[in-house]
Amino acid sequence: MRSDFPLFPEQASTVAPYVDALYLFLVGITGLVSLLIWIAVFYFAIKYRRRPENELAEEIEPPQMLEIAWTVIPAIIFVGIFVAGAWVYFHINRVPDDALDIYATGRQWMWKFQHPSGQREINTLHVPVNRPIRITMASEDVIHSLWFPVFRVKADVLPNRYRTMWFEATKTGRFHIFCAEYCGTQHSGMIGWVEVMEPTAYQRWLAGGAEGSLASQGEKLFQKYACHTCHTNEATGRGPILAGLYGKQIQLTNNSRVLADDNYLRESILNPQAKIAAGFQPIMPTFQGQVNEEELIKLLAYIRSMPAAAPVVAPPTASAGPAATQNKGTVQ
Ligand code: CUA
Repeated sequence: MRSDFPLFPEQASTVAPYVDALYLFLVGITGLVSLLIWIAVFYFAIKYRRRPENELAEEIEPPQMLEIAWTVIPAIIFVGIFVAGAWVYFHINRVPDDALDIYATGRQWMWKFQHPSGQREINTLHVPVNRPIRITMASEDVIHSLWFPVFRVKADVLPNRYRTMWFEATKTGRFHIFCAEYCGTQHSGMIGWVEVMEPTAYQRWLAGGAEGSLASQGEKLFQKYACHTCHTNEATGRGPILAGLYGKQIQLTNNSRVLADDNYLRESILNPQAKIAAGFQPIMPTFQGQVNEEELIKLLAYIRSMPAAAPVVAPPTASAGPAATQNKGTVQ
């Protein structure tokens, strides 16, 4: 029936039924109240119409129970809407811990997606079904908004900072992606498809033609931009040790502390003077204009993949292992 009269897009994520239920409840309750108001307007207009020319209005005292009722009932409804809305809001905003990471870059006028395994795609996104997916997003130019109507999630994609959103698809198939923020003359063409696949089909798709994992591509960039000459992973290096840095609190020269998350690392690459780690000189040059969004994501993936303990000695993963040794070899 829905396909004959598509008032709503399909529900294809775990949150979609809740978003729709909240929406329908709001539409239902506002419709009902509007109807009651209009009925009351007509009923009272007729019942209390002025008959003799000289009739005067009579003052009446409404029953107390009636006043209590019209205060308490709407209060209960409003609190109910708040509780349901807050529940859906927190559900949409709290990313499950086991989410699969995917990176999205918006630019005039296309969507670029990167998978941790190194796969890249434009205007199409392949994801597995029944698995939470976290999308980390940034824009290369203006504000865009990544919208998956069937998943009922949408988030603005901003220049100069990362935002995340998540969904868990419940149906396989091919669904629309739209840009939902006016971003220039080709805004309406900034569209794409999300392909929700069975996990085995997704694995097969991932296996085809990647240029190495994001972290290993990031490691190559780390060498290319000569990051490793200062960030040597030894206490004597001119830059802070990056291994195990991700997710830690960093002491800054101005005595404040900052969490080493994606946004902090991004800022430290593009605008190194903004926050200087305690014990270091502000000597790092900016990489603004040299490193693009896709490369930033690779560099961050590499920094995240660095081992937490015993820098350099233990290779973090199979893919980064050989290069970590190579890294040691090339320093000095
Ligand atoms: Cu991008 Cu509209």
